[in-house]
Amino acid sequence: MKILITGGAGFIGSNFVRHILASYPDYDVVNFDKLTYAGNLENLSDCESSDRYSFVKGDICDPEALKKLEFDSIVHFAAESHVDRSILDSQPFLQTNVMGTVMLLEEAKRRDCTFLHVSTDEVYGSIGEGYFYEDSPLMPNSPYAASKASSDLLVRSYIKTHKIKGLITRCSNNYGPFQFPEKLIPLVILNAVNKRPIPVYGDGMNVRDWIYVVDHCRAVDAVLHRGESGEVYNVGCKNEMTNIRLVELILGKVAEKLGRDEKEVLSLIEYVDDRKGHDRRYAIDPKKMEDSTGWKPETDFADGIASTIEWYLSNQKWWERITSGDYMNYYKAQYGDRLKR
Ligand code: NAD
Ligand code: DAU
Repeated sequence: MKILITGGAGFIGSNFVRHILASYPDYDVVNFDKLTYAGNLENLSDCESSDRYSFVKGDICDPEALKKLEFDSIVHFAAESHVDRSILDSQPFLQTNVMGTVMLLEEAKRRDCTFLHVSTDEVYGSIGEGYFYEDSPLMPNSPYAASKASSDLLVRSYIKTHKIKGLITRCSNNYGPFQFPEKLIPLVILNAVNKRPIPVYGDGMNVRDWIYVVDHCRAVDAVLHRGESGEVYNVGCKNEMTNIRLVELILGKVAEKLGRDEKEVLSLIEYVDDRKGHDRRYAIDPKKMEDSTGWKPETDFADGIASTIEWYLSNQKWWERITSGDYMNYYKAQYGDRLKR
């Protein structure tokens, strides 16, 4: 099999490229990525020497570029993925997440190949109690979530109308190595290391269900090989945590690892104005995924978060290069007026 992986230079995509190359010695991978601010080929430096791996720089919105690629199935990760950025400017989200997905669907239709769409639990919106199931209504609340919900519906429409072989996964919050430090977990680790204030939105009581990125990659693999065309699969761990509990837990571990005073590190926490439209709780039921594909998460949160912290502490060059570029402009736009310190 030759898999086209879109967005393979990003956080989850690069972990997925590595997972596929290691798990399937007879598979080839084509990584197609525009290399936006979030795409980084350093994430795949250990895969470059493989003769089963190739990289093509390009935009999923460019149909001519897609036509030139050789592959027999598509796993689609490429997206604008950060909620806060979609609040600052929704346009790139509509372009890549909606129009880009349509271009890929057209290509899947033309070639009659499998299309696996990597979506998110955010399409369901927020839930007070209980869980979202695959047939729960889509109620997205941020421009990011709305763009992902739109692309989910477009995938559905191409399955129904054009009979393409399509599958959709909706995963919860990922953490692990190579995550861009705009997202909560790496941002907290790096700000703690750099003794910068740690912005906690609102009252810090929003809840997310955290999954180790490799478990998500294993789930996408399971759906690609054992999923049924036309079906949607929720991917999660039922590992719910409030943001403030998660932040305190990370800071405690960072203090321990760096031999710093825990109270000093915890004092970096600063409650800031809430994110606009901030979803209170995400919670999905992954039973369908577990029953129909046999997938189960394998990484215990305590182990996963400890190894993630260790990874960021040992890969300073990786994040120093990222945070020395345009990152600080974004950081100032996002936090400048909100942080007091
Ligand atoms: P990311 O922002 O780290 O990476 C996105 C990648 O897509 C980057 O390499 C970027 O260069 C590439 N890209 C962006 N626009 C492109 C375009 N027009 N053409 C080609 N490449 C383009 O994102 P991530 O966190 O790895 O998320 C990957 C996918 O998983 C997204 O579709 C996201 O919605 C979904 N998802 C993410 C999470 C999470 O917790 N991060 C959870 C569930 C689902
Ligand atoms: O649920 C899946 C989604 O998870 C994915 O679809 C998205 O691509 C991914 O970015 C993630 O979205 P979130 O908005 O949940 O993740 P983020 O890391 O941005 O924020 C996690 C929580 O932490 C959220 O409640 C907002 C809060 N937060 C975030 C940042 C960056 C803070 O309190 N302070 C911060 O500085």
